[in-house]
Amino acid sequence: MRIAFFDAKAYDKPSFERYGAEHGIKFKFYETKLTEDTAELARNCDGVCTFVNDTLDANVLEKLADLDCRYLALRCAGYNNVDMKAAGNCGLRVCHVPAYSPHAVAEHAMALLLTSVRRIHKAYIRTRDFNFSLNGMTGIDLYGKTVGVVGTGRIGRVFINICKGFGMNVIAYDKFPAKDADFPYVSMEELLAQSDIISLHCPLTDETRHLINCETIKLMKKGVIVINTSRGALIDAECLLDGIKSRQIGAACLDVYEEETDYFFEDLSGHILNDDILARLISMPNVIVTSHQAFLTEEALSNIAETTVLNLVQLHDENACPNELIWKDGEIVHGK
Ligand code: NAI
Repeated sequence: MRIAFFDAKAYDKPSFERYGAEHGIKFKFYETKLTEDTAELARNCDGVCTFVNDTLDANVLEKLADLDCRYLALRCAGYNNVDMKAAGNCGLRVCHVPAYSPHAVAEHAMALLLTSVRRIHKAYIRTRDFNFSLNGMTGIDLYGKTVGVVGTGRIGRVFINICKGFGMNVIAYDKFPAKDADFPYVSMEELLAQSDIISLHCPLTDETRHLINCETIKLMKKGVIVINTSRGALIDAECLLDGIKSRQIGAACLDVYEEETDYFFEDLSGHILNDDILARLISMPNVIVTSHQAFLTEEALSNIAETTVLNLVQLHDENACPNELIWKDGEIVHGK
């Protein structure tokens, strides 16, 4: 099997080459993202392997189908960037990696939070310049603080356990609450009003787009810390910026950003950033931005490659895969 691998980075190749070779799959690595213009690179391939910022709209999917591509292997959990209806109409078989390391993302969320509340990002720069002053470095204890977790799936649950280890009070909101929860669920309004820290771990859907907006920010505690390691568009970035400027939001920890597609994963040092909101956010002393790196651990990369390869093998050899996403009667159902 030949698979065109888009948006390839140096860290992707070793594990995909290794697992691919074990199962007779040859990956053709392309640094470019998949777009309508680059879809042609998938000619003579059985399918494509894509990541979070590739374009997978109806035009691109139809083009892939015209090239006789049969498989769309997402090497990520989220599939909000795929026009699933179009994929179904084109006969493209879509699979994803539902879980590869919830620990990687949850631990990164906590790393961002600790960095923010203990000013580690400032201390690192100061001590490199032999500035050992502590002025302006006062932090807060996490112990005893209330953290509101939105989305209590795989990653949310790991994050909750980490927070409990710090002696934090956990409250949560989920549209589909877990039955075995050992933490209290509250309404979204209660979560917004009671939380010292809010961490987002729900998927991006029509319903959750701009979940954090100018109105919901007003309902939060003054000085709240907002963490987003999920998807950028869960937060209206302009409202977030206003909230920070008005001091309603005390700090923001962002691994994702609404308009990240043109910027994240790329080295743009030396360039002028065209996105004024992102530039302003990054300039704030109480905003920490990482470039969608929460997933990036050795364990996660290995799991992603292994699962993606097995997904393709199952679809190809057995015509069925539990990680398949199928468009059926107007909704997405999971394969068996
Ligand atoms: P999951 O599917 O295990 O959990 C998602 C949870 O959100 C579920 O409990 C679900 O009931 C809940 N949910 C669905 N709709 C909701 C709504 N309207 N309001 C509140 N909760 C809702 O997903 P998992 O593995 O925990 O991943 C969560 C998100 O993390 C993914 O959707 C993805 O966007 C993001 N992610 C980010 C990564 C990064 O590198 N920054 C890497 C991997 C995932």
